Amino acid sequence: MDRSLLERAVAPLLEWYRLNKRELPWRGTRDPYRVLVSEIMLQQTRVEAVKGYYTLFLEQFPTAAALAAASSDEVMKAWQGLGYYSRARNLQNAAKIIAAEGFPSTFEGVRALPGVGDYTAGAVCSIAYNLPCPAVDGNVLRILTRLYADGSDPDGPAARASFSALLKEVYPPEAGDFCQALMELGAIVCLPNGAPLCGSCPWQSFCRVHLAGEEEKYPVRPPKKARKRVELKVFVLKCGDEYALNKRGKGLLAGLWEFPNFEGEAPDFGKILAKKRAKYIFTHVEWQMTGYLTEAKEKFPQYVWATAEEIEKNYAIPSAFKAFSEWVK
Ligand code: ADE
Repeated sequence: MDRSLLERAVAPLLEWYRLNKRELPWRGTRDPYRVLVSEIMLQQTRVEAVKGYYTLFLEQFPTAAALAAASSDEVMKAWQGLGYYSRARNLQNAAKIIAAEGFPSTFEGVRALPGVGDYTAGAVCSIAYNLPCPAVDGNVLRILTRLYADGSDPDGPAARASFSALLKEVYPPEAGDFCQALMELGAIVCLPNGAPLCGSCPWQSFCRVHLAGEEEKYPVRPPKKARKRVELKVFVLKCGDEYALNKRGKGLLAGLWEFPNFEGEAPDFGKILAKKRAKYIFTHVEWQMTGYLTEAKEKFPQYVWATAEEIEKNYAIPSAFKAFSEWVK
């Protein structure tokens, strides 16, 4: 990728950030503990939701030592309503490590704290230590795929890796501002869903998708794969007051019990008493089923036979077959 394009983008971005950044409660601190708290809270959570929590949380737990010494109930209570509660547990565990050993001073050290991934470690190191450690999230991938008119999948690992490497090469000395400026441009100007505010963008004179008038086409997400449709014949085989069950092998619904079913030809099991269609949608597969309530000619030995009560009590039959369970009674 052409590094000079991003090099050219750095100074206008920093200038734009100084003039336009939102006043947020965590902007203005370089205390790594406070930066860590903000970045953990901002994982999967909107800035507006985090604002109030951040300030109150730090009043209650102003240092890693204070957080480490708190009871986990107190910490959970302070986190209540913010969601993804494992973050709070991880943050307290991180605080215990920080209280004992000091705040780690390298990317690898920060990355090793509980609950901290590449993005959060990059943000903390950039903001607290001015280290050239890129923090590439969805916002940053959006602005960069647009700047470059780059068609790679923003949800795949390749785009993240290549933009991360490229950013590293152009990091300015004001690493913390640069890191947050990238996020900020994505958050307030280079908006998703085809609605960027290009007229307010510091990159408008050289952004490749803007120059081509194609900003709405980026980022490019590959089409979702169509679900595979499988046609199944499902048999509720009845012999006396017992029904035939089969234990599923490997793969989808492994280990659960099912009514005998066939993708292609099915054997002649006996007299068909009722027939109905049903479908069931899994993530990657869709079953289009025809069910046959059948009076079995014999108690076919390849199946387990059980009464309706036994099935109810002892056999887990997945909901995919629920439409046919009403024949079992
Ligand atoms: N999202 C993640 N980190 C952020 C930060 N420091 N400022 C604004 N939004 C963010």
